Amino acid sequence: MNGTINTSTNSIHWKEVRSQFNLNGAYIHLAQMLLASHPKQVREAIELHRNKLDDNPTEYYEKNYVAFETRARKAAADYMKADPEEVVLTDSTTMGLGLLFTGLKLKKGEEILTTAHDHYSTEKAIEYAALKNGASVRRVQLYTDSYNVNEEELIEKLIKAIQVATRVVAITWVHSCTGVKLPVRQIAEALKKINEQRTAEDRIYLCVDGVHAFGVENVSMKELGCDFFVAGTHKWIFGPRGTGILWGKKEAWDMLIPSIPAFSDLSYYMWTGAIPAGKINFSDLHTPGGFHAFEHQWALNEAFEFQMNIGKAKVEERTHRLSTLLKQGLKDIKHIRLYTPIDKALSCGINCFDVEGMKAEEVVKKLHAKKIIASVTPYKAIYARLSPSIVNSEEEVRACVKALEEILS
Ligand SMILES: Cc1ncc(COP(=O)(O)O)c(C=O)c1O
Repeated sequence: MNGTINTSTNSIHWKEVRSQFNLNGAYIHLAQMLLASHPKQVREAIELHRNKLDDNPTEYYEKNYVAFETRARKAAADYMKADPEEVVLTDSTTMGLGLLFTGLKLKKGEEILTTAHDHYSTEKAIEYAALKNGASVRRVQLYTDSYNVNEEELIEKLIKAIQVATRVVAITWVHSCTGVKLPVRQIAEALKKINEQRTAEDRIYLCVDGVHAFGVENVSMKELGCDFFVAGTHKWIFGPRGTGILWGKKEAWDMLIPSIPAFSDLSYYMWTGAIPAGKINFSDLHTPGGFHAFEHQWALNEAFEFQMNIGKAKVEERTHRLSTLLKQGLKDIKHIRLYTPIDKALSCGINCFDVEGMKAEEVVKKLHAKKIIASVTPYKAIYARLSPSIVNSEEEVRACVKALEEILS
């Protein structure tokens, strides 16, 4: 096995996919949405860069940084069907959200409209942005009963909340508090219609934290229709830990001011005056400079290649199939309350639930004792959470359902 998946036949051998990971085989891993294990080709690329950097750091860096960064950006862009110039390399979702929200050119009197279902990192980035630029923040509650959410209602609640002052709509594609997946494309279409009635100066920008669909949903950036998209690549993409992306649509570039100086060649030439300021693309201007854990950043292309080699459509189908199997099992257990919708149009790979009379932390502990790794939602409402991915099998999901059937005994 050389680290690539055999795709010569039409059917993927999921056991072969699993064999690429060094995951502890004594456990069923259903929480990699927090932090993923690296597949073989990513591990080997990291190892190679690390050895070369340890051998001769300066020359290895100087000879290769342009080529390696270009390769990582291109692999990310190919995966998103975007332009490499639109892709900024970050260290995490949190870093991308910070760069995005605190860099937006907003002023006093303008508003960021967000929701009550976003992650701590989005909430804080927006709060810090508002402190700096004087914009106001308003939160809209899109649902109270997450299990029974309805697509039209979600869209209507958000769109109805837009006011004249709204310049930014900040949403999360898949809520890690409930597992609800928002219909981002439809929201983008509704915003497009509103923007047709506005001038360029009043136009609304759609910003998406897409981390829990990135590496699952087979959608291009153009199809998604947002203006800015943020994701870590160390979760569902199975990329190197400490990597992520911020994507900015060309027409939206002017809305963002960089927060961290870039180290790209073009950014230096701009600084020395060799090229005019306006001539530099989004990626070269916004990818944070300073030296990084390069052995990780330069191995990012391997993670995208791993995904593309399996095939985005197959990854999506597999993840939804396991997630649906899990939910179908959980919904029939009397002592379990499921918070994530069954419909795959409104859910993805995260599944949240409660066990009657038991705290979520205790559920996770009991599952651990049964060799199942789960997590809890790091929100004010704490639920237990199971997230099957392409490393898992139907047998593992069934074993998990059985463990939950018996959890009270
Ligand atoms: C919706 C959401 N956004 C952002 C983050 C933070 O991601 P990162 O660890 O890549 O910064 C998380 C964490 O899992 C999350 O659930």
